[in-house]
Amino acid sequence: MGLYNAVMAHLFTAEEQLQKLRDEIRHHEYLYYVLDAPVLTDAQYDVLVNRLKALEAEHPELVTPDSPTQRVGGKPREGFAKVAHSRPMLSLDNAYDEGELRAWEQRVRDALPSTETVRYVCELKLDGLSMALHYRAGSHGAAHLERGLTRGDGAIGEDVTSNVRTVRTVPLSISAAHLEAAGMPQSFEVRGEVVLPQSAFVKLNEEREAAGMAPAANPRNAAAGTIRTLEPSIVAQRRLDFYAYFLLREGDGESLLAHQSDALKALKAAGFHVNEHARTVESIAGVWEFIEEAEKLRDRLGYEIDGVVVKVDSTAQQKRLGFTGRAPRWAIAYKFAARAGVTKLEDVLFQVGRTGKVTPVAALTPVSIGGTTVTRATLHNADEIERLGVRIGDSVQVERGGDVIPKIVCVVEKAKHSQEIVFPELCPVCRSPLKKVEGEVDWRCVNNSCPARVREEILHWAARGVMNIEGLGDAMVAQLLGQSAELGGEAEELVEGAPVVARKALIHTIGDLYRLTQAQLLGLERVGEKTADALLAQIERSKSAGLARVLLGLGIRFVGERTAQLLAEHFGSMEALIAATGEELEAVNEVGPKVAQAIVEFFAVSKNRELVADLAAEGVVMTAEKRKRSSTLEGLTFVLTGTLPSLTREEAKERIESAGGRVSGSVSKKTSYVVAGEEAGSKLEKATALGVTVLDEAGLMELFRA
Ligand code: IVH
Repeated sequence: MGLYNAVMAHLFTAEEQLQKLRDEIRHHEYLYYVLDAPVLTDAQYDVLVNRLKALEAEHPELVTPDSPTQRVGGKPREGFAKVAHSRPMLSLDNAYDEGELRAWEQRVRDALPSTETVRYVCELKLDGLSMALHYRAGSHGAAHLERGLTRGDGAIGEDVTSNVRTVRTVPLSISAAHLEAAGMPQSFEVRGEVVLPQSAFVKLNEEREAAGMAPAANPRNAAAGTIRTLEPSIVAQRRLDFYAYFLLREGDGESLLAHQSDALKALKAAGFHVNEHARTVESIAGVWEFIEEAEKLRDRLGYEIDGVVVKVDSTAQQKRLGFTGRAPRWAIAYKFAARAGVTKLEDVLFQVGRTGKVTPVAALTPVSIGGTTVTRATLHNADEIERLGVRIGDSVQVERGGDVIPKIVCVVEKAKHSQEIVFPELCPVCRSPLKKVEGEVDWRCVNNSCPARVREEILHWAARGVMNIEGLGDAMVAQLLGQSAELGGEAEELVEGAPVVARKALIHTIGDLYRLTQAQLLGLERVGEKTADALLAQIERSKSAGLARVLLGLGIRFVGERTAQLLAEHFGSMEALIAATGEELEAVNEVGPKVAQAIVEFFAVSKNRELVADLAAEGVVMTAEKRKRSSTLEGLTFVLTGTLPSLTREEAKERIESAGGRVSGSVSKKTSYVVAGEEAGSKLEKATALGVTVLDEAGLMELFRA
């Protein structure tokens, strides 16, 4: 027993210790998941969770269902039970333009005495699935999550409690103190939206594709599919988010507070994730202003919205306004125009990805959709082409959402002289026969040395956030491989079957990067001494990125940034990781059977083991960086902007964090320092306006020494 544990055991009963630890962990989860402002590093957080797990293992009788260790609990064995809602979960009437919005407001005014003022709450219309959460009185005056229900048919929902529990922004319990601060009773119902952030959606689809499954069409479908998965541990990996927007009385589902705006405030005070972009306005003009702002925000949110929901603020007025058949009169959904356009399918190109998957990509007559010119759209796979019944020359409808790649949704008009889309039988790049695994939808190039695959592997290795090799982008990698930059992307190559390897390749594997010489680089187009030396220096520097980055760079299925970090911290060296059995891998926090199997399979391939050995021989560090944490910058928040003279942004961030400081993306009054380099932009202006101290790199170095 460590000293800390010994002291705690002396001072507090096990029950008290558990209570304290759980409260502390909940607090940090709230800072991390809801406020997005963690004060602990992941490792520090894990220490707390492990301490809790150990203590609970000693006292299994004291494990409570709301303990942070119990997010992933039992499985719903035979599907989901059906449960009636306290009151129906209705949908909303829609308005598609300003006129329809004003007409709705007129109906609201007509139904209320003309002497009354009406305020409106404007909220983003989150594109997810609605969910009802029921909280019940628990021990110590707290409220505990009892049940989570999907909307279902509106009257009866599905009990998805075990899955909802894994959503980090759903509090499992709310302390008496928080309830009091929020002015909430111990029993209540919260309704809101479960959404899948775009980044998680992209990641999910990458995983689905890697596993040979059809990609989800949009984040909403992905979120809905996830919440109905019968495997809570899978739900837990998906990073779903829950935004609360209604606070209701338990039992009859009436509004708990006098105003919608009060409900949002109370929910926030209780620790729910309430969308920050909500506003109470005095008039329909204010509503319109909000809508215009929301439309501009849309691309920058990181999650999908499809409009704005406008609600009458006063719940007394809501009651008097009542409902029409299926929707309340006191609220309306203003729907943004779909970001779609009609254009012609000019051609179809076939791209080969890192895993060998061949993706048909539509080449379109350029069309402007929501302010962006779209020339390419994905057609996903052969099945999708068949489902759409699309041929080259047809007019097609193209849709674009947030960050999501544009896609063809349907054929609008068939062309008279159209051409069939023929899926290739050979890899468009290396000409080896494409294969399809039984039960999967994708055709793959299974040639491990296919130049297109190698190219994608190297680009991934060099990418920002992976090995960070600056100067190793598309064009350079193509030259190093002796390819044209548009490999697999241009139709001519496919049609004419032109040879792709035009020049002698300087590299064939990731390992070859570490044997490049200046003389070789000087032989490339547009590469002078300066460029060559800079690239070599970057490659050299990447050797010390550490085990986590190497693992990420290898592109093992399902191993993303966080998993790579956890694996690196757990095993400490590549040797230990490769030697680990599936069972040992699963012992790592957050690693499930699927991930463990993918890792074992990866290292079972001799080419992969050879690559790792080669990299190690070239001096690539294969151990986990044991970060020495100090507390010089404890409690300080930094914002980085512009280019610093010698440190990259990643390096500056790492150094600040290992000195105990925190790096944030935006400047506020709470920012301690803004570190500004060349071409610093609006963040520097904001810092000056707020009176935040601005440092240059030298100033930052001073702080480290202090
Ligand atoms: S209020 C009486 N507020 O939009 C129903 N709904 O078209 C009131 N939605 O089923 C719903 N964001 O899933 C409300 N801020 C928000 C919302 C929101 C998204 C969804 C919800 C609802 C659908 C209605």
